[in-house]
This record gives sequence, C-alpha cells and structure tokens, in this order.
Amino acid sequence: MTFFTSSFIVLITCLSATVSQAHPGFNFGWGGHGGFGGISFGLSPDFYQFTCPQANNIVMSVLEKAITNEPRMAASLLRLHFHDCFVQGCDASVLLDDTAIIASEKKAGPNKNSIRGFQVIDEIKSKLEEACPLTVSCADILSLAARGSAVLSGGPNWDLPLGRRDSKTASLTGANQNIPPPNATLANLVKFFKRQGLDEVDLVALSGGHTIGVARCVTFKQRLYNQNGNNQPDETLEKSYYFGLKSVCPKTGGDNNISPLDFGSPAKFDNTYFKLIIWGKGLLFSDQVLLTGNVENTIELVKSYAEDEGLFFEQFAKSMIKMGNIKPLTGFKGEVRKNCHRVN
Ligand code: HEM
Repeated sequence: MTFFTSSFIVLITCLSATVSQAHPGFNFGWGGHGGFGGISFGLSPDFYQFTCPQANNIVMSVLEKAITNEPRMAASLLRLHFHDCFVQGCDASVLLDDTAIIASEKKAGPNKNSIRGFQVIDEIKSKLEEACPLTVSCADILSLAARGSAVLSGGPNWDLPLGRRDSKTASLTGANQNIPPPNATLANLVKFFKRQGLDEVDLVALSGGHTIGVARCVTFKQRLYNQNGNNQPDETLEKSYYFGLKSVCPKTGGDNNISPLDFGSPAKFDNTYFKLIIWGKGLLFSDQVLLTGNVENTIELVKSYAEDEGLFFEQFAKSMIKMGNIKPLTGFKGEVRKNCHRVN
C-alpha cells in the first residue's frame, strides 16, 4: 500500500512536470507550497496559453462593450475581485448564489445592494464556455475583468498570473468580517489588510482603486452629521466639499444617492484620488484617513502617489498581483465551475 502510494506520487509528479512544462494550462498547483522535486506550479501568466489562448481577448471584447455602455462598470468589476479575494481567497466564492447548503456572500453587509457586475461576468463566462469548455475558472475571470477594467479606464496593465480554481463553498461570515468598512480607523484598515498578507503600501496603492466609481450616501453619511458621536461633521472634510456632499446626502433618507469617489475624474483611472485626499476631499473616512491617520508611512505614500502617477500605477499593478495571489485554489483543489453562480 505504502509502495503503491509513493509510486503513484512519483508517477504523477513526473507526469505533471512534463505536462505542465509543455502545457502550462495543466497546472497542478503543487509548487506554491514547496512542490515536489523543486518544481514550481504556482499561478502563471501563461496558464491558458495552450488550453484557451483567446481567453483574454474574449474578456476584453465583452468589457469594452459593457464599459462603453456604462463607464461605472469598470469600477464595479474591479471591486468585485477585491471582495472575492478578501473572503477565503480569490476563488469566486463571491459569485455563488444561495442554496440549501450555501449562504451567499452577496447577502453580507458590505455586499448587499452594493456589489454589481454579475451580468458582465456571466456574459464573459458563457462566451468562454463556448470557446473553451470547462477551462477558464470564474476566479480567473474576476481577475482578468479587474485588470481589463483598469486598462480600459486608462490605468496600468500588468502580467497577470492565472490558474486559480473555483471554490465549492462561500463564507457569509467571512464576508461580514473580512471586508473593511468605510468608517474604519487607519489602524483597523492596516489590520484588515495584514490579515490577508498585505501591508501599508498595498493598502494605500489599492485604495487608489477609488479613482473610479461611486459610493452610496449611507457609506459616508456619518462623516457629514455625526462623525464622533457629538453631532458634528468630520473636521477633516474640506468645507466646500462638505456642503456639496450634504446636498446629495441628507441627514435622513437618500441612503442610495451616489457620489463619485473621485469627483475630478470618476471614470478615468488616474492619480486624482490622491490629490483630492491632499485637498481634504476624500469621500470615505477610510480614504481621508490615509492622510489624517497620523501614520508617517501612509502620509508619505499618499503624497508621493499624488505627485507621481507613474509611481502609483507601478505600485497598483504590484499590489493587484499580490491581492490576486491571496489563497488561490490550485491543483486538484476546487473546480472550474460551468456556471459562476453555482457549483458543478
Ligand atoms: C481600504 C479599504 C476599503 C474600503 C473601506 C472600501 C470601501 C468602499 C465603499 C464603502 C464603497 C462604496 C460601496 C457602496 O456605495 O455600496 C466602495 C466602492 C468601491 N471600491 Fe472600495 N474600499 C476599500 C478598498 C478597495 C480596494 C482595495 C479596491 C480595489 C482595488 C476598491 C475598489 C472600489 C471601487 C472601484 C468602488 C466603486 C464601485 C462602483 O462604483 O460600483 N476598494 N469601496
């Protein structure tokens, strides 16, 4: 029995080494944890080189249409990847619907009435299933859609490691506990990111994702009317910006009214987000606190990204790759879903 097991492992190891080198699309994902015989099988940009070389083109053509139709869609798709990765890793758990045994993450506080873009993911998936059945995972689609959205909004491009597989489970509790809330202090934001293996540099760079898209009044109302329990606005809000925000976000009602996260250029991926923070015009408390939170490191980072867009783009790309590497399922773990809404 022992002989059989070890022979089997040796056989599979040799096979996968040969197959994986010839066909990166067959990635058993063993190398990320030391692997067998020193061979590495982590995520790789060439993962679909032989099994679905047109994958990215398909993603981009659907995105182009969707984003032309509604520029905000780029922001929604970027955020979807973030909300996926922070909950049990980048495994498309966020896309699973409720069933008798799955409590969908879509119902979690940070997601409910908030995350969007599912139809676009569905359209990409159905085109990919036509071209390369059961090959490209929903988790990789989220990652490709996030990168494509940044690119099509004028942001950076990067070599995107692929080969994630899809979970068979979701975690509603994980979604409630691991996605940082907009009123978090800087110390707490750092903790949320540390829990995922991300540092302060990643926190500031990835917060730059707020260079596109919008937020609902309910997510910044506290800042306008009662930031510290004393019925006073957040004093770090610049005055004219504060008066403008009050008109879209009244003290009672209007919870779903929206305001751009970067009102200077809400559909363009640029470094205006950081400039606005310097001017006291960050929309969320979690945006402004990167500057006012009194951590020397993040203050310096905000200033340098505000001054140097190239530097921001470079770090954003690096941090996106890092975020995309949070606990991916590889090898025989998980599955490639046929339909992103449910397990096979
Ligand atoms: C640092 C901690 C973060 C907090 C506290 C936070 C919080 C929020 C909140 C409250 C909204 C508005 C949601 C709503 O109105 O329902 C939002 C929107 C958004 N977030 Fe974040 N976020 C964070 C980090 C990130 C990261 C890391 C990314 C991506 C790299 C990101 C990308 C976005 C985008 C693009 C939108 C706009 C979505 C749309 O218009 O549909 N956020 N975020």
